[in-house]
Amino acid sequence: MSIHREVKRVTTHTLTEMKEAGEKISMLTAYDYTMARLLDSAGVDVLLVGDSASNVMAGHETTLPITLDQMIYHASAVVRAVQRALVVVDLPFGSYQGNSKEALQSTVRIMKEAGAHAVKLEGGKEVVESIVRILTAGVPVMGHLGLTPQSIYKFGTYTVRAREEAEAERLMEDAHALQEAGCFALVLEKIPSTLAAKVASSVQIPVIGIGAGSAVDGQVLVMHDMLGLNSDFSPRFLRRYLQLDQIICEAVAHYVRDVRSGDFPSSSEQY
Ligand code: KIV
Repeated sequence: MSIHREVKRVTTHTLTEMKEAGEKISMLTAYDYTMARLLDSAGVDVLLVGDSASNVMAGHETTLPITLDQMIYHASAVVRAVQRALVVVDLPFGSYQGNSKEALQSTVRIMKEAGAHAVKLEGGKEVVESIVRILTAGVPVMGHLGLTPQSIYKFGTYTVRAREEAEAERLMEDAHALQEAGCFALVLEKIPSTLAAKVASSVQIPVIGIGAGSAVDGQVLVMHDMLGLNSDFSPRFLRRYLQLDQIICEAVAHYVRDVRSGDFPSSSEQY
């Protein structure tokens, strides 16, 4: 007799309960089936199909070029892999900024064609109307404030945001506006840890930080960065848990040597 154990899925409510219980939330980006399966089985709570796929999967300099069709392709692969984690998908640049109808149409495609569990979009008060419309259709929305990479050409650099009081006050107001609009959680990217701590303690929804210090409700990193697939990218907030680029290069160089020398395949590696 085989015993089939149901895996308890992470939902938006699980994340709210985790914040209330003071349990930290772990989130990582994922863009493909094989890696998403590994991350999910390792116990990551939330998998974000980030528009950072534009950088790490496609080699673009910014997140702007990735299309809705490409996000749906990545998201559907991740959804197929996952048994436990909540899968959140970024609405890419140009798929929601026009108006709330466009935001809802893009969201519907992500939910229908990829089977995602929630969407994330960047911005504060200016995207509230879109958030409300998406929520009205029954889709949970995660907000994203601080460094918002889709606005890179407005800001000009990827440096820490909201160091000045006026910008910090605006960010706090935006966080409350997103909570009131109904967002289930919020990402804060690259802002001072003191400000992130204030936001996390003044809103009820979970706040997930990236470069926002430890006094928030959870952390998110880009999977390629934390596994060390790109040694050129070394921001202060990044902790590398592996140096996978070296490991892969060494393994591949070994394979090339074995092919050239005739060592591979051996007699036991053929029919
Ligand atoms: O696209 C992404 O990877 C993100 C994270 C940095 C939060 O939005």
